[in-house]
Amino acid sequence: MRVEAVRGMTDILPEEALLWQYVEAEIREAFALYGYREIRTPIVERAELFARGVGEATDIVHKEMYVFPDKKGQMLALRPEATASVVRAYLEHGLHARGGVAKLYYLGPMFRYEKPQKGRKRQFHQYGVEAIGSLDPALDAEVIDLAWYIMERLGLRREGLFLRLNSIGCPEDRPRYRETLREYFLPHREKLCSDCKRRLEENPLRILDCKVPSCREVAEDAPRSLDHLCPGCRAHFERLLGYLDALGLSYELDPKLVRGLDYYTRTVFELASRDLGAQDALLGGGRYDGLAEALGGPPTPGVGFAGGMERLILVLGDREPPDRCFRLITGPTVYILPVGEGEVTEALRVLARLRRAGIPADMDYAGRSLRKRLQVASQLGVRYALFLGEEELSRSAAKVRDLSTGQEEYVPFGELVPYLQGKSRR
Ligand code: HAM
Repeated sequence: MRVEAVRGMTDILPEEALLWQYVEAEIREAFALYGYREIRTPIVERAELFARGVGEATDIVHKEMYVFPDKKGQMLALRPEATASVVRAYLEHGLHARGGVAKLYYLGPMFRYEKPQKGRKRQFHQYGVEAIGSLDPALDAEVIDLAWYIMERLGLRREGLFLRLNSIGCPEDRPRYRETLREYFLPHREKLCSDCKRRLEENPLRILDCKVPSCREVAEDAPRSLDHLCPGCRAHFERLLGYLDALGLSYELDPKLVRGLDYYTRTVFELASRDLGAQDALLGGGRYDGLAEALGGPPTPGVGFAGGMERLILVLGDREPPDRCFRLITGPTVYILPVGEGEVTEALRVLARLRRAGIPADMDYAGRSLRKRLQVASQLGVRYALFLGEEELSRSAAKVRDLSTGQEEYVPFGELVPYLQGKSRR
């Protein structure tokens, strides 16, 4: 039997990889413009990091994490997200001692054992930022502005997108709000799904974002976290709204947005697409002022977001990446056709010289008829075919055919590079 890829883990084939490279490059540039620097953390972490960081009872840790023991019995996990890893690295390397706000970004694969569907994979890729070290709501506004800017840069229409925003308050607000929610849901207990019956005891906030219709119906009139904020959290949120208005960024207040990770405090948001169906969140994020302490560090506030590359690629649809990213990666512009084995050494020499001069070049290795080889060259979109036969070797020159015009010229080996460079400048 043929060995196939693991369910929910997909190959990104060369044609599609081109769009990925383009999108990744645009995202990196946007992050750099906003002052974020890349951090690369390991894909494998101690399972405990996510149990303490993201929360033992969350679906992500409880149901979806890939956990396994190493040879010494230490429990490890494939990272389901990167915020906990980035904060761990921030604490471990004393980045907090460097003063100011640490602005870090990442791109890379994450793993969650979810039911695969459109826009939802078991191995997926996130791009994200974490701004660690400040409570200032202006930083929340900056992060949200960056999220919008990425969409703008990729040419996604604002009308097709919307930003859900909420504040879930601080750890002091939470127990009161939880209790208020529990009191509200208790009389409706029988209408709740089995998961929500459990959530009613463990964390009634999560009932608010349950997708089961009967739970949604009950949640419709549930008390809002915004009405249960302490004065500090209320003021923080109002300042954030003021900044967003000043920046002209639209948002919809969504009292049901609670997010599925336990580390959030105050601001939470999601930028969603109107074209994506059930998995509509292009990115999600918020503040996590207690996360560093949960990981054993000093109290250190932070805010950030992460988005799914797969979903971004989906909304970009069949869009062709712009010309500039076709450089080098669309294939050779020169194709060498050695007539026989005797010309292969010279062909390899010419190839090496052209490539070192920055001219994308390749040659035929399949030993087919001349007609077949020319067919391959035109399929590859090659501009120049270089013929090397006995006669060419004796003249120390290659016969260069411009495949767009059919014109042929003998060009001495020593002049091939300037000749082809001159052509491409014209
Ligand atoms: P999250 O909402 O779990 O947040 O994931 C962020 C984004 O990753 C989602 O909006 C979605 O686009 C994408 N995503 C999540 N799961 C999948 C999946 N199974 N398949 C495809 N795409 C997926 C976090 O991960 C937080 N760490 C975000 C954050 C950063 N908060 C603060 N800083």
